[in-house]
Amino acid sequence: MENFSQLLLSVEESRTLALTSLIKKLKAEGKDVLAFSAGEPDFNTPQFIKDAAIKSINENFTRYTNNEGYPDLIKAIIKKFQSDNNLIFNAENILVSNGAKHSIYNLLRAICNPNDEVIYQAPYWVSYPEMVKLAGANSVVIDAGAEVNYKIFPSQLEKAITKKTKALIFNSPSNPTGAVYNKKEIHELAEVLKGKNIWIISDEIYEKIIFDDEQHFAIAAIDELKDWAITVNGVSKSFAMTGWRIGYAAGNREVIRLARNLQSHSTSNPCSISQAAVVAALTVSSTEVGEMVVKFQERRNFIVNELNKIDGIKCPTPKGAFYVFFDVSNYYGKENHGKVINDSSSLCSYLLESELVGLVPGIAFGNDNCVRMSYACSMEDIAEGIKRIKKALSLLK
Ligand SMILES: Cc1ncc(COP(=O)(O)O)c(C=O)c1O
Repeated sequence: MENFSQLLLSVEESRTLALTSLIKKLKAEGKDVLAFSAGEPDFNTPQFIKDAAIKSINENFTRYTNNEGYPDLIKAIIKKFQSDNNLIFNAENILVSNGAKHSIYNLLRAICNPNDEVIYQAPYWVSYPEMVKLAGANSVVIDAGAEVNYKIFPSQLEKAITKKTKALIFNSPSNPTGAVYNKKEIHELAEVLKGKNIWIISDEIYEKIIFDDEQHFAIAAIDELKDWAITVNGVSKSFAMTGWRIGYAAGNREVIRLARNLQSHSTSNPCSISQAAVVAALTVSSTEVGEMVVKFQERRNFIVNELNKIDGIKCPTPKGAFYVFFDVSNYYGKENHGKVINDSSSLCSYLLESELVGLVPGIAFGNDNCVRMSYACSMEDIAEGIKRIKKALSLLK
């Protein structure tokens, strides 16, 4: 083992990707698995975006682009930030990467030194802890459970800040909880951060998937934080483009310069064809995103209602993204035919083995009382899945 990188040996495999592989394997064996583990919309990429990609291939837009992204795409991103978020950027403030994940990784590497501290909340997106490790820094995690709608308070943030704090990763709407911080709550957190020279990486990948009367607010729009907040976004979720791998970051020129440098020596530009497709996604006005959100909201209403009817389950109502994150700890300590449930992982393997239902254990997101269920799937699957979950849980004594 000494022949390998100690750092890489300390990094865990993405549990969501591992589970997705297991479910794919069961399906390939012909099993009737209902997978609610996917972190991607079930909708297809809109046709006008696919057409733009095909056109770009036919026009031989198939060579390297600028490392940081193709100028037309950078222009489209600048416009998007101005019109959606009231954020003003120049080209040197933008980096286009192979997905928002890649942008976040580049930023953490651009910012962190060994033993710096990076704050984020639990439940968190699975990749934050491992990315912080890869950047040589240490995680400082603030807990926020279902009872507070999975949102942290300013006093908790204040307490987590030390002399070593280098950055905060902020994610709203959230994966895995669907929690959305409103403008007032973001302003209250911002009060704690003002004047402290702490970088804020604001992961806004679910910006467009937001329900009820909630409105997305970008923390970088707060004047005193605009030099410190770096906004990350992308097209994977909002335009059903997970496989195209385009995400982007916008903010302080120097951080972006360093992140661009890292990208130039590791991956270079993201796929030229995907970039051409994203120009269309960001510049052509279309109805597809809105239609997708309406469907997600219908499913959200159904799933929350049905889950809360099951004895012992507490499911808060998410305001964005396409996941429910619900408390199943009432079942811990129970068993069925020798299969004992004592945490979120044993509960998920019980559901997969007994009823072929794939959920993601909350421990992957830093909360072992809960499980995550994605509703990026049909209503029929959701209804059948809930029926199976209910049956399996009712057999636990
Ligand atoms: C919170 C969050 N941030 C970032 C990403 C990465 O998105 P991308 O596909 O653009 O890399 C995901 C994907 O699951 C996510 O859930």
